[in-house]
Amino acid sequence: MKPVLPHAQLDWDDQGRPYSRVFDDVYFSDKSGLDETRYVFIEQNRLAERFAALTQGGRLVIGETGFGTGLNFLCAWQVFEQHAAPGARLHFVSVEKYPLSPADLQRALALWPELKVFADQLLAQYVAIHQGFQRLTLANGRVTLTLLIGDALEQLPQLDARIDAWFLDGFAPAKNPDMWTAELFAELARLAAPGSTISTFTSTGWVRRLLNAAGFKMKRTPGIGHKWEILRGEFLGWPLDVAPPAQAKPWFARPAPLAGERRALVIGAGLAGCASAASFAARGWQVSLLERHDALAREASGNPQGVLYLKLSAHGTALSQLIVSGFGYTRRLLESLQRGVDWDACGVLQLAFNAKEAERQAQLAAAFPDDLLQVLDREHAEIRAGVHLQSGGLFYPEGGWVHPPALCQWQAAHPNIQLLTHHDVLELRQTNGKWQAWEGDRLLAEAPVVVLAGAAEIKRFSFSRDLPLKRIRGQITRLSQTSASQSLSTVVCAEGYVAPARLGEHTLGASFDFNNDDLTPTAAEHEGNLKMLEEISLDLLQRLGAANLQPEALEGRAAFRCTSPDYLPIVGPLADSSEFADVYKALSKDARQTPDTPCPWLNGLYVNSGHGSRGLITAPLSGELLAAWLDDEPLPLPRAVAEACHPNRFALRRLIRGKS
Ligand SMILES: Cc1cc2nc3c(=O)[nH]c(=O)nc-3n(C[C@H](O)[C@H](O)[C@H](O)COP(=O)(O)OP(=O)(O)OC[C@H]3O[C@@H](n4cnc5c(N)ncnc54)[C@H](O)[C@@H]3O)c2cc1C
Ligand SMILES: C[S@@+](CC[C@H](N)C(=O)[O-])C[C@H]1O[C@@H](n2cnc3c(N)ncnc32)[C@H](O)[C@@H]1O
Repeated sequence: MKPVLPHAQLDWDDQGRPYSRVFDDVYFSDKSGLDETRYVFIEQNRLAERFAALTQGGRLVIGETGFGTGLNFLCAWQVFEQHAAPGARLHFVSVEKYPLSPADLQRALALWPELKVFADQLLAQYVAIHQGFQRLTLANGRVTLTLLIGDALEQLPQLDARIDAWFLDGFAPAKNPDMWTAELFAELARLAAPGSTISTFTSTGWVRRLLNAAGFKMKRTPGIGHKWEILRGEFLGWPLDVAPPAQAKPWFARPAPLAGERRALVIGAGLAGCASAASFAARGWQVSLLERHDALAREASGNPQGVLYLKLSAHGTALSQLIVSGFGYTRRLLESLQRGVDWDACGVLQLAFNAKEAERQAQLAAAFPDDLLQVLDREHAEIRAGVHLQSGGLFYPEGGWVHPPALCQWQAAHPNIQLLTHHDVLELRQTNGKWQAWEGDRLLAEAPVVVLAGAAEIKRFSFSRDLPLKRIRGQITRLSQTSASQSLSTVVCAEGYVAPARLGEHTLGASFDFNNDDLTPTAAEHEGNLKMLEEISLDLLQRLGAANLQPEALEGRAAFRCTSPDYLPIVGPLADSSEFADVYKALSKDARQTPDTPCPWLNGLYVNSGHGSRGLITAPLSGELLAAWLDDEPLPLPRAVAEACHPNRFALRRLIRGKS
């Protein structure tokens, strides 16, 4: 059975206003939704004055229950633009069980012409919004929206953030009693920053009492329009008579933010390095991006076409959650690039090439909604693909191919980023609170923060030598487009993949070789790639002129993927490995212990690596994750997923297994 109701089910009144069928309630007041939002949420949280008080580099984090049409968000953004200093930032985190479809969102927001400049930016980024955490970067990174798609009571417990102002919205308590609960209010309290404010349009007595019991001090205040009274309040602190919420284990706790100069080195200018640099730069960091080659994206990230390939699990694993969130994030970034040359949203079809794969696909189709993936029988798959196929499969309508160097270039183009090519960092040294990058006896650059984004090469540094990264060689084959191969209209994958042509060439990929260290393309691997094409579509092979495809004469390119043992990337702050083993050695005797010794962080040292075969999906969001660790911001992923990607996971496992 398909998951039900992914999108809001709306009716529209005679003045074009949306009304929820499920909750039998209005999205905004029938008088003036805009005035009500401004009064209830913006004024009661004193946002204009708090935005004005933000310093250069300061930020305010707003949390909301019920994103709905995004009206509250757009109003907050507008006030932020009117009052905040140029270097300040706004974070808005909102949970939504039934996101509006893009068409409904557009229709609803058309009601507010004065918000059009903000609404247009939101609408342009409102793509690939699927379950779980979905991050949107707006206003060149000045505004960050993190949507948590799902039930508030299931999503908020996964959030790691400190909220400065809460908008408690979400239909009238009488119409939506499942949401307005003590459990929800405990989550709002858990996430509240010291001195956090809160407001809501309701004045219902039991809502006020439950919020007071959760640690807020609520006050009735005169309402607006037909609302006689509303509530506003402040967070006083976690109630003394309730057990405090669990803290993160020290090895996954946030390192103390670094004060002082906001300058960072990023070593490696592939997808991971460029994404890290872009996320830092958007937060006002000055970044030196060091690359040993003559340009960025010369290694794994240098293929002509890579596929937005989603290898999901129906069981909601950390990897699968990361993929859904990462896919959405990359997909939205691509909206700024040139379609047809830099990327194409032509969809991705994964063939059900054997019975086991067909069964896996059926499970996925039952677990995810149609706008993310759909099972197609062979006939419909062939219509989609424009060529005859060996089987039907799973179609991802929002997928496609990307020219990875274009994404890297776009990310590295931020004025705060300086790309330093021909800079091969051979050694890292830590002196006087700074990290220094050395090439022999030449000091290349120094800064208080450094990100290691050099794929498996990061093992050359003593600080990151223990990270279990492996290189896996892969080779793609370039095939000239023929007039008959022009019919290919989507990416098709089985064991390998083939993409519709970019600038007259199809990319066919990719081999896996665990033993070869030589990057010269080989005829044997071209042959292997052709074999994979044969399994995808004999018809396409013919259309490409099978007889002329002599492996020895084919052109291609080889590079190393970089994988970790659990296939999750390695993203986050690094600790000193020998001190780590020492301070947490009690874990080797009893894994359930939680020593309270702080983690021996290598202050300012961060990693973004291990993106395996799916860097296009995982690397850009990992840049955001890294920036969130660095700047103590809301994490763009569920806490458990961020921990599953944390560099400390390996040292921890080693200790628990007694191998340290
Ligand atoms: C054949 C092949 C096909 C693939 N197909 C896909 C696909 O279809 N979809 C997908 O999502 N992913 C695909 N991938 C995986 C994807 O390309 C990678 O996950 C991604 O490129 C990794 O990016 P990265 O920045 O971590 O590594 P890289 O792109 O390898 O970048 C690392 C950079 O760091 C530099 N560097 C390293 N050490 C130093 C140093 N000490 N000093 C200075 N510079 C340094 C390197 O020169 C390099 O430029 C494929 C990979 C291969 C090899
Ligand atoms: C009145 S609307 C919010 C209006 C919105 N803030 C705006 O600016 O347009 C209430 C929203 O809460 C959402 N909602 C209701 N119950 C929820 C729950 N349990 N978890 C998450 N969202 C919920 C609804 O789907 C709806 O979009």
